[in-house]
Amino acid sequence: MAGDTRPRTGRGDPRRGPGAGRAGGARPPLGVRKARRAEPRGDDPSRVACAHFPDCVGCPLVGTTYGEQLRGKDAALRAALAAHPRIAPVEPEKIFGSPLPFGYRNHAKLVLRKRRGRDGRAEVVLGVYRPGTHSVLPAERCRVHDRRLLPFLVALRARIEESGIPIFDERSREGALRYALARISTESGAIHLTLVSAIADPAGLDRLVERLRRDEPRLEAAFLCVNPTPGNSILSSDVRRIFGPRALLDRFGRLVLESRPDAFVQANPGVATRIYADAERWLDPRPHDVVVDLFGGVGGFGLALAPRVAAVLGIETSAAAVDCANGNAKRAHQGHVRYLAAPAESAAALVREHGLAPEEGGRLLVVANPPRSGLSVGARDAIAALAPSSLLYLSCNPVTLARDLDALAEGGLSLRRIRPFDMLPQTPHVEVLALLDRDAAASSGAEAGPATGA
Ligand SMILES: C[S@@+](CC[C@H](N)C(=O)[O-])C[C@H]1O[C@@H](n2cnc3c(N)ncnc32)[C@H](O)[C@@H]1O
Repeated sequence: MAGDTRPRTGRGDPRRGPGAGRAGGARPPLGVRKARRAEPRGDDPSRVACAHFPDCVGCPLVGTTYGEQLRGKDAALRAALAAHPRIAPVEPEKIFGSPLPFGYRNHAKLVLRKRRGRDGRAEVVLGVYRPGTHSVLPAERCRVHDRRLLPFLVALRARIEESGIPIFDERSREGALRYALARISTESGAIHLTLVSAIADPAGLDRLVERLRRDEPRLEAAFLCVNPTPGNSILSSDVRRIFGPRALLDRFGRLVLESRPDAFVQANPGVATRIYADAERWLDPRPHDVVVDLFGGVGGFGLALAPRVAAVLGIETSAAAVDCANGNAKRAHQGHVRYLAAPAESAAALVREHGLAPEEGGRLLVVANPPRSGLSVGARDAIAALAPSSLLYLSCNPVTLARDLDALAEGGLSLRRIRPFDMLPQTPHVEVLALLDRDAAASSGAEAGPATGA
């Protein structure tokens, strides 16, 4: 076992109980913040000991009660909105907390590193980068991962060490194994492992995979991704199947979504299920409506809305995700759903090309779920050209969301509802769902459906 993963003692000891670090529970002096703790407390079962606290920085809120975390996220959203006084003053709805404050995450993405242990022997570390550096902190026992991944990751680290397959060295650029990605289906418990290697055929790989299959009957598939390139991208497009099915199936409420190592799927199925359900409730789709699902991933939004509308066109740049989205539509018998591998910036042209204007009485509904950077100017222009009746925007960054809401208001789309969700407990991240409707004044000049211009 890597030395740093052992429980710590002394200052910052996650196993120490309430009051640890201050004699007899005396109050800290005014203005001094209480020491952070990461130990279960009678009044808050969400506090659990973490083997990597406080060294690992992946979960900076792990010593904060879950209630405080939710209040902080609500405040972060309000502060981002307040920076743009032109946004319609809409009160955010109550934050939706994660059903699981720990053990919620359906995948682990970890770096492999070789180092000298305390006894002088070389050992393998499976962990995360210390921010701003390339030094790696152990994280194989991370508590936010689905708890069924924990024994697998512990065994994986030990088996890789035992296999003798050389770990990639960033400085010399020698060695093979760089990263390990483990994904789990929340519903079935099936695990898919992807090992990222700088070389195509690391000696000992088959034997390693065989041992892992023996250790862990849940291991349903393994992949090798060959990525020799410098830079921060974990995956390349060269993903080879070692054994098992290509796609991992999981359930998000009534949706069954397949994903692959290189296709994005929401990290917290319990929260994503609620977001897809709210999307349907908020948009309240009707039979003649047409949906355009921008940044569609494996099709979660499009498929949540599909049974109630005339057509869905999904637009997504990742070919692997588009393949999964079309597979998901087929599995769900939704023949009127189609996903295309294209940038969201080309949405207006694609909608025209595919003749997707809604029929008389139908509305054009757009969903956008961009990465943290938010909508590019090109994507905002495409939405303006589509002139949707409503836009549903899911964001993982309240700052870029507020910026985009401000710009979209200029184009006649006004905020109607907004709600934060806690997709990633123990971290400061907050997910936000916003519904924008076309202003009455703006829609009186535009027919339902996309504008014919650019
Ligand atoms: C936050 S994920 C959205 C996933 C999806 N909506 C869901 O619910 O699972 C963002 C997606 O946008 C895709 N993407 C990034 N830039 C894009 C662009 N310019 N146009 C279209 N898709 C893009 C990424 O590949 C990724 O799948």
